[in-house]
Formats: sequence, C-alpha cells, structure tokens
Amino acid sequence: MYQVPRGTRDFTPDEMQKRRYLEHAMAATFTSFGYGEIQTPTFENLELFTVKSGESIINELYTFTDKGGRALALRPELTAPVIRCYIERLQMEPKPLKLFYFGNCYRYDRPQKGRYREFQQAGCELIGTNTCEATAELLALAYTIVKNTGLKNIRLNIGNLTIISAIFKKLHLLKDDQKILLPLIDKSQFDELHIALGDCNVSEEMIDAFLDVLQTSDISRIRSYIADDITATAELTTMETILYLLKNAFHISEFEIKLSIVRGLDYYKGIVFEIDAPILGAEKQLCGGGSYDLVPLFGGSDVPTSGFAIGFDRTILALEEEGFLFPTIKLDVFIIPVNQDMNATCIEIAQELRSHGISADFDLLQRGMGKSLKYADAKHAEKVIIVGPKELEKKMIVLRDMKTGNQELVSVTGISTKLKKI
Ligand code: HAM
Repeated sequence: MYQVPRGTRDFTPDEMQKRRYLEHAMAATFTSFGYGEIQTPTFENLELFTVKSGESIINELYTFTDKGGRALALRPELTAPVIRCYIERLQMEPKPLKLFYFGNCYRYDRPQKGRYREFQQAGCELIGTNTCEATAELLALAYTIVKNTGLKNIRLNIGNLTIISAIFKKLHLLKDDQKILLPLIDKSQFDELHIALGDCNVSEEMIDAFLDVLQTSDISRIRSYIADDITATAELTTMETILYLLKNAFHISEFEIKLSIVRGLDYYKGIVFEIDAPILGAEKQLCGGGSYDLVPLFGGSDVPTSGFAIGFDRTILALEEEGFLFPTIKLDVFIIPVNQDMNATCIEIAQELRSHGISADFDLLQRGMGKSLKYADAKHAEKVIIVGPKELEKKMIVLRDMKTGNQELVSVTGISTKLKKI
C-alpha cells in the first residue's frame, strides 16, 4: 500500500470544508484592511533563500536541480518570494503596498502534531511604510484575523530586536556569541541561556538583570535597564506609541511586551511579534512576524517592509481543540426517483435547479427509497424531492423537509421558484 510522504497529508472533503471556511474568513479580514491577494510560484531559485541565511539553511529546505541544471527550492515561506515579486513587478505601484497570500510551504522539519513538511501559511507583507500607525495596524490585523477565525484563547507577544541588539552591545557579546544565545532566547530556555551567558564571560549580576528584563512585561523596568543607550531608548518610545495606538485606537489590549520574542528567521529588525494558542502545547506558535530588511539585499530601492504569517494548519488544530463548530456545507436538494423510469425527469429537475444556483444531486446508484434517504442525510441535504409516476402524471413532485420530515406536493414548473425562496 502506498502512503503519503512523511510530513504531508491528504485532505478529505470534510477537512477541505473546514479549510475553505477558514480561508474565506481570513481573506475577508485581509481585504477589510485594504490588502490585495498575491500568488507566487511553489518553487524559487535556491539562492533566494540562501542569500540572507547562508548555505546552512539548505538542511531545512527541499532543494533540487532541474533538467536545465538550475538549483531550485520548494519555498519554506513566502516573504522572500513576495519581496522578489515586488522588486520584479510592483516597485512602481502606489505605496503603501498591502499584499496578502495563502500558500503551501515546505520545510524539512521533524514532523509531529502541528509541525509538517508541507503546510499552509496565510500571511501578508506591508511595503513602503513603517509609521507607528502602520505597525500598530499590522499588529491589529494579525490579532483580528486570528480572533475572527473563532479562536478564543490566544496570546499576542511583542518584542524588539533593536533593543536586544543594544543589550548585546552593553554585555559586550560578539556576533558569534549571539548566534548561540538567540536560539536559546527564542525557545525561552532560560537555564541554558544562563549557562551560555556565563560561558561568554558575562557576570552573574549582569546575567540576572538580563534574564529579568527578557521576561518582564513592565516597560519602565526595560526603560531603566537600557537607559544608557540612546538608540534603544528611542526605539522603546516608538514602541510605546505603537502600543498606545493598538490599545486606544484599535481597541486591542490583549498583548504583552516580551523581549524574549526574537524570531528564528534572519531578516528581522526592530519590532517582532508572535501569536500563540496555548491549547496547542509544544507547537503553539500560530503566527509570527515583524519588520524586516530584504529589499536592498534583493536589488531593490530601500523601503520599509513588515509582515506576518499565520500557520493555517495550526489554526485549524487549535479551533478543533477548542471545540469550534465549523459550519457544514449543505446540499440544497437531493432527488430520488421512485423507479428507474423517472431517472430522466430527475436529471432534468436537477439541471433546472442547478441553473438557478440551487445545489442539487440525484441518486446515481439507483437504490431503494430507504437507502437513498440515508445517503441524502449523510450529504446534509436540506430537502429531498421524490419523483413518482402518480404525481408526475399531474406534473407534481413530492418535496420533503429533511429536518421536520414534512412533505408537500409541488408543481414541477414551480419547484425552482419555491426552493429559491428558502
Ligand atoms: P515563521 O514563524 O517561520 O515565519 O512561520 C509562520 C507560521 O507558520 C508559524 O507561526 C507556524 O504557525 C507556521 N509554521 C511554521 N513551520 C511550520 C511547520 N513545519 N508546520 C506547520 N506550521 C508551521 C515566517 O514564515 C515568516 N515568513 C513570517 C513573516 C511574514 N514575517 C514577515 N512577513
């Protein structure tokens, strides 16, 4: 028996219904914030992903060489592809440019619940502005999209890489030290971080103060810790303005400052954020984003850029864990012939209803009434039409309501008008 490749999944019609529901909900929120949809290829030139992160990223990618000898990679995310597309085709568009996307991504991760090798992201990139209003709106959009899916318990945590860099400078930490420390901070492994900082010759007193500031959400404590650094202090003031807008203009107050949010990807700078769904346990990160620098690196004229991506599959998992009731798509009508001589009439009625935008299905297996009704029920049919010779002689059919079981005689010619009113 063949099975799906490791880390990939099939989606049945019931699962696809949930996915399409969620896509619609998310797309509606993106468009309500003035974003337009974009699509880029599933694979890109490998260099697009190695130019910033270096060759080591290849271990995490699906890479291949095509018949023309080109080094390619299945996209692990869409920020780099969208920025490539922006530089190729959209640089002259009016700013700010607000782009959203849905797309499959591929990472050679170790599969587990909530972590796959093929997964879908719903995300966006905001190009051409980094005003406080723009950043506050981006945070509000991320929060609103996740909330609008129906999820109840989420946490928005906001960090800042400019402030973290200033702290590293203050602790005299070198670039190589930072490469070891950042993943520990990212995973909140504070015991391991304590040891690693000691190995970097940071004094116990300084380590304690740093660990405290990484874990506090009290802005005044962060401010006094970085008071001697002008850049970090200015950045914190900007961040306060952004958070003020988030709270008082967007009316979103469920967030926390967490300097331990540092993000795994290499292109971020300044503000970064994540949304977690604690119900998911280990793979609880639903959304990640922030401001970043890729345009000049890819050869475009420098513009501010920021964005985020939501793990689509994890959002579905979290909704299921919270017991969310996804709407089921219903069939308007299922048509059952009393005998096979009625088949052609059933098909004609089905076609007539479909042409009026009414979803209609007809028993293609020529089963008895009992089995057909059971099948109609399994397909969530709201109504059933029964076509029998006696009624048809009078140009009538039987219309049955599946919820109440009530039946009535309806004329064949009036059926689409009757069902359209439902
Ligand atoms: P990321 O944090 O790597 O950021 O991915 C965003 C989201 O994708 C994660 O929060 C998670 O929910 C989901 N995700 C990541 N890896 C997997 C996986 N193996 N299986 C299932 N879900 C996964 C980015 O990709 C950035 N491009 C976000 C961004 C956009 N930053 C600026 N603009």
